[in-house]
This record gives sequence, structure tokens and C-alpha cells, in this order.
Amino acid sequence: MLTTETKRIAPPKRLMYGPGPAMVETRAYEAMAQPIVGIFDPYFLEIMKEIQAGLRQAFGTENEKTFMIPGGGSGAMEAAIANFVLPGSKVAIFAAGHFADRITLMAQRQRANVARLERPWGETFSETDAREFIKQERPDVVTFVQAETSTGAYQSGRNITAVAREHGALVIADCVTSLGAMPVELDAIGIDVAFSCSQKGLSCPAGLSPISISPTAWEFLLKRPELPYTWYLDLAIMAKYFEAPHVYHHTPSAPLYYAMHQGLAAIEEEGLRNRWERHRRAGEQLITGVQKLGFEPLVKNPADRIWHLTTLKPPVGLDEVQLRQALLTRYGIEIAGALGQLAGKVVRIGTMGPLASEDSVTFLLDALAACI
Ligand SMILES: Cc1ncc(COP(=O)(O)O)c(C=O)c1O
Repeated sequence: MLTTETKRIAPPKRLMYGPGPAMVETRAYEAMAQPIVGIFDPYFLEIMKEIQAGLRQAFGTENEKTFMIPGGGSGAMEAAIANFVLPGSKVAIFAAGHFADRITLMAQRQRANVARLERPWGETFSETDAREFIKQERPDVVTFVQAETSTGAYQSGRNITAVAREHGALVIADCVTSLGAMPVELDAIGIDVAFSCSQKGLSCPAGLSPISISPTAWEFLLKRPELPYTWYLDLAIMAKYFEAPHVYHHTPSAPLYYAMHQGLAAIEEEGLRNRWERHRRAGEQLITGVQKLGFEPLVKNPADRIWHLTTLKPPVGLDEVQLRQALLTRYGIEIAGALGQLAGKVVRIGTMGPLASEDSVTFLLDALAACI
């Protein structure tokens, strides 16, 4: 029997209310069916340039070195760590979730000297935390997760970056879940290296991940005493593809570029701030509604919550696995369970992109009410 016996695929249409992959913009889907062109085709290079400009807007940066890693969010995370964390250097990690733990593992593989400030999952870090930790550790690099998808906590990073700068440390931020749906604001906040993904706030399929690097960090990279151990993710080589004369480094996926172009066009048309506001309102509506159904937000302080990714403890006696199964089979709705220490204890609900609307949240609340 051939694995392609059915000759075509017909995936079910799901409503993606999870932490990502989130719902894809219709125009991004349509763009992916457009013809493939060569990787140096003038048309393709124009699309590339426009994506970079759109990403600068979404990131809130003037960084010239803003481009797309051919890979998922973890690929972009690895690029950031492998290029800016030198073997033997000190990395201070603000750790209160699964993705900070992933950064830790990557930094350890770079043979860095890792220091972690830990907080219970669902909490964020204060300026006092940052001051004491950074003063004590005197790190070369400071990293934090702006929107910790495993816990639902948002931390702009303002508390951390000012202190890191005073100590001359580079700041790397995981903006995988914040980009396109919440303030990222690299330049205003003072983040040197930020990485993200395509499948959450940008409403695109996974597989192409934005990264942005400040002039200070770029200078650091060019002065590294030895080359990064990775060739594919060596940002100094990769960057040459994104700027004239466009030197070949890898073969990018044209459909993913087309999709990202359209995802960013949709953001530009709506206006970034309007889009943030839409996500904020949808998140608030969701929290109010689920609390009436007996769910309890994991992140206690409303100001610390990711607007478009809500973590909830289910009412006592409710089996979260059964709930997720019921939503999927009865309504085609996907929500997610949790990772690591929160697995089985919370559910994660995303209201991103096309689903960050009053109607979509109301529909989800009705479905939840019917399934509990
Ligand atoms: C905060 C954060 N960082 C990193 C990642 C890794 O991204 P990916 O799954 O695309 O590799 C994720 C994915 O959910 C994430 O939420």
C-alpha cells in the first residue's frame, strides 16, 4: 500500500484556539498557492525587503539586521544563543517557565557559565530581582522570555534591560509569542537580540522565524574571538543573503515568505496598536467569561498576563483532557494542555489573529460552557 494512496489530503478545519500554531490569515493561505520564483529573482528580493520592513515595525526597531531564520522559533532561539553566548561566558537567565528552561539548555550546550534566577511558574520579575541578580552575577549576557507561553505571563523586559545595560551586558529576549499581538518594542525597551516565530501573533504557518539584532550586538558578533560552532545558524554569514549583493546561504521557502508578507500586510492595514488593542480586549473578555464558568487564571496579576494566551486552572473535578477532547470532537476547537510542571493542571487558550474578536471569544465561551 502506498502512503500516498489517497492521492490528496483533506485535513479537518480546526479552530485553533491554542498557543500556536494559531489560525492563519486567509490572505496568507492564498499567498502560499502563488508561483515559486528563484531565490535571487528581483520579485523575491522585493518581497524579502518588504517583510524585513514589516518586521521592523512589528518589533518596534530600526535595527538594520532584522531578517528571517529558516526554521521554527527554537531555531531562532538557537541562533540567538549560539551567536551571542560565548563558551565560558556568563549568562544570566530569568527563569519562570518551560521556554526559559529551553534557553538554559541551549546556553549550557554553548559551554556557557549559566546563572538562573527562578520564580514560580506564572510569576514575573521585579526591578529589585533584576538589580540583585545582575549585580551578583555580573553576566555578559542577560536573557528573559517576554511572553512565557508555558505559563501565560508577560514581562515587557523594561525592569531588566536598564539594569543589564548599566552592567554592560547584552540582552536577548524571547519574543516568540509576543510579536504581532502585544508590545515588543525592542528599541524603546533596550533589547539587543530578539527572536520570534511565524505561527502565533503573525498568523502565519510555522517555519520562518524573525530575528532582530541591535548595532551593539552586531558589533559584538563581528568581534567574536572565534566563529560560532554552528554554520547553518551563523548569523554573520546568513545576514549576507538578506542584503545586497545577496550571497547564497540557504534556499528559503517562497510560500512561507509570501505568507509572512501577507501576515505583515494585514497587521500594517489594521495598525499595530489597533491590533494590540483587539488582542487585549479579547483576552479580557475571555478571562471574565471563563471565571464565570469556574476557571481560575494561573497568572494572578492582570497586568502580568499575556493578552492572547490565557492559562487557566479548570474547576475542581473537571478533567482537562476530556474537556479538550470534547471541544475538538464536538466543535473542532483546539485548545492546549500545559507543559512540564503544569501538565494536567492548566489549560492554555489562545485568542490570536483572526480569533481575537468578540464573536470568536463568545463562541469559545459557549462551547466551553457546553463541554464542562
Ligand atoms: C516562548 C516560546 N519560545 C520558544 C518557542 C519555540 O518555538 P517553536 O515551537 O516554533 O520551535 C515557543 C513555542 O511555543 C514559545 O512559546
